[in-house]
Amino acid sequence: MRRIMRLVLLSVAVAALAGCSEPQTSSAPSEPPAIPEAIRLPVSLNEVMVALVNDAADPIWMAAWREPQTDADWRELERRALQIQLAGALIAHPGTGALDEQWAAKPAWMQWSNQLRNTGADAIAAVQNRDLDAIGNIGDQLVEVCEGCHIDFKLPFPTGGQFGELSPTPSDVE
Ligand code: HEC
Repeated sequence: MRRIMRLVLLSVAVAALAGCSEPQTSSAPSEPPAIPEAIRLPVSLNEVMVALVNDAADPIWMAAWREPQTDADWRELERRALQIQLAGALIAHPGTGALDEQWAAKPAWMQWSNQLRNTGADAIAAVQNRDLDAIGNIGDQLVEVCEGCHIDFKLPFPTGGQFGELSPTPSDVE
């Protein structure tokens, strides 16, 4: 409440200043803008799953049978691992989906999102070390995180009606 009053007073002061013809230089350093406490994603959690989480996880799983060959392949895999870590941090916040707020408020949801984030961090390290065994283990760990959270929260049909593509299997790749 006090914060709102301060903002109101500030805008009155700014309005008053704007009326002056001489630009005034204030001696007090201006406060940096506050980071909003609740960050709402501009899309639904369902869309984050489909467009980010699922897309980033596939290449990590696939690396187990289609090993990265070139530096560019490794860089690509590192970016996918970064996307998993970032996605874990993002899904801690609700988006525009019907049940997003309900889900994000649950402690179990926080635990699963943290696990996704940590698994992403492990994947980055494994990729940087070019350790294919570790990448294989992290792939398995990733499946457990995805499935664990889906068992706890996912409904039989996604609220946003969006399904991910089926993940490729070794037989899909030459
Ligand atoms: C923190 C919980 C959580 C984690 C972790 C999680 N998901 Fe999800 N996921 C959900 C929920 C909840 C939905 C359903 C969203 C809806 O219906 O609005 C969903 C939906 C999806 C969908 C779209 C619906 C469908 O059936 O195709 C895909 C694809 C998906 N998740 C893939 C993954 C993959 C892959 C991982 C792991 C790499 C993962 N998710 C990790 C909670 C999670």
